[in-house]
Amino acid sequence: MSTNRRKFIRNISLGAGAVATAPSLANAFGAATDEQIARSKDFEKSKQRFNMCGYAAPKLDVVRVGVIGLGMRGGDAVGRLSYIDGLEITALCDKYPDRVTAAQKTLEKRGRPKAKEYSGEEGWKALCESKDVDLIYTPTPWSLHAPIAIHAMKNGKHAATEVNAGLTIDECWQLVETSEATKKHMMMLENCCYDFFELLTLNMARNGLFGELIHAEGAYLHDLSKGWLFNKKAYADMWRLKENYKHNGNLYPTHGLGPISQCLNINRGDKMDYMTSMSTNDFTLNNLAKEMAAKDDFFAEFVDKPYRGNLNTTVIRTNKGKTMMLQHDVSTLRPYSRIHLLSGTKGIAQKYPDPERIAFGHAWVKKEELDALYEKYTPPIVKHIGSIAKEVGGHGGMDFIMDWRLIDCLRNGLPLDQDVYDAAAWSCILPLSGASIAKKSSSVEIPDFTRGAWKTNKPIDLTLDGGGNTGVRK
Ligand SMILES: NC(=O)c1ccc[n+]([C@@H]2O[C@H](COP(=O)([O-])OP(=O)(O)OC[C@H]3O[C@@H](n4cnc5c(N)ncnc54)[C@H](O)[C@@H]3O)[C@@H](O)[C@H]2O)c1
Repeated sequence: MSTNRRKFIRNISLGAGAVATAPSLANAFGAATDEQIARSKDFEKSKQRFNMCGYAAPKLDVVRVGVIGLGMRGGDAVGRLSYIDGLEITALCDKYPDRVTAAQKTLEKRGRPKAKEYSGEEGWKALCESKDVDLIYTPTPWSLHAPIAIHAMKNGKHAATEVNAGLTIDECWQLVETSEATKKHMMMLENCCYDFFELLTLNMARNGLFGELIHAEGAYLHDLSKGWLFNKKAYADMWRLKENYKHNGNLYPTHGLGPISQCLNINRGDKMDYMTSMSTNDFTLNNLAKEMAAKDDFFAEFVDKPYRGNLNTTVIRTNKGKTMMLQHDVSTLRPYSRIHLLSGTKGIAQKYPDPERIAFGHAWVKKEELDALYEKYTPPIVKHIGSIAKEVGGHGGMDFIMDWRLIDCLRNGLPLDQDVYDAAAWSCILPLSGASIAKKSSSVEIPDFTRGAWKTNKPIDLTLDGGGNTGVRK
């Protein structure tokens, strides 16, 4: 074992507290450093401790959930989760106690028992260490995702964390190592994998309708600048605006990458091999900071920060010779898009811009043919829970499909649809895009977090076999 890797393992074995407070090894712009990339290669050469892909944990009759981070996303999550039978929210935590109180009110309104309360900067540690929780569900700012998931697993809990799962290559490996060592699930809550067109096209790809897929595209193109990033009432302590000058590159790769990775069987038959990334300069964020600061001193500290470039484009090549294109832009005016394009030898699908389209020749199929494809290829999960999910809501229903499926798998002892290798591989694009940009878009290798198991891992199960019996409250 190299000294590099040995030192790293010693650091993580010091305990979760040490992990949580360890200084990030990434450089000022959050890009993966040469040292991290070298350490990552050492990890790849070592043997996988245990394969978490396809792993089924012992069944839990009732899943006791602790939610950490009760802001915009966490508040909604408490509402959605409280519809699911066989689930109890036993603990709630936020830095700010009034957010815990608000979430308790949601539970009360839904006729659910009161949860134990945690608050303060480090209240999450006590929650992870408590005895009455099986699953920690984390919609906090990004920097806390990996530390909380690692502490949760080390304390015997499954971890479900919002996107991105980790901000550095080291964090991604820590997640993998901890999940394998503890045999606890680590799922990144990539809800876009559960959207209706994404699931339809995944099932169509599985059934060979597009022939062999050769190229796919995904994105997060969503103007968050004025309404969100620079809105004092949106993200707590302005955390998300601050992330926009701590990193350069694709800050939010997983919404676009998750669904197309599942279609291409990434980590389950193919693997992302290497990538190259390019960003524009920033043409809007600093101007907006100046404009806001001229009206309100509060924004003065955000002027002349080293904002990341507005539009990032990353191109990935897989081991089997396919390509993927990812884009990220949350700071120029444009309609929302995640692209979701799948191109194969026999057909093509594209979700954005509206309307969703599929073609098997020179023209897009007509609406009646698209309806017929929906009829035939909508996978069982959507047939089972899709209309209820639309009623409960959460990005049109996909959030609830994801929550329900996670709990149903844990209750029935089924493998989860997304494992720690997906979380690590999809998240590592953030620091690697920074590394590529820093070297004039040189290509960088994408770590094999499965350490070779991708060659034999099975694609995700699109049936509800062995599960599907978790009820939903009126
Ligand atoms: N998957 C999706 O579609 C989707 C949508 C929105 C947000 N998100 C993700 O959800 C997460 C939360 O985003 P948000 O929009 O709710 O932001 P937010 O700022 O509204 O919420 C974050 C919450 O975390 C709390 N927090 C901060 N530090 C904490 C600490 N030390 N301990 C406990 N709580 C702490 C904050 O007080 C706040 O209540 C982010 O990772 C974001 O990327 C995902």
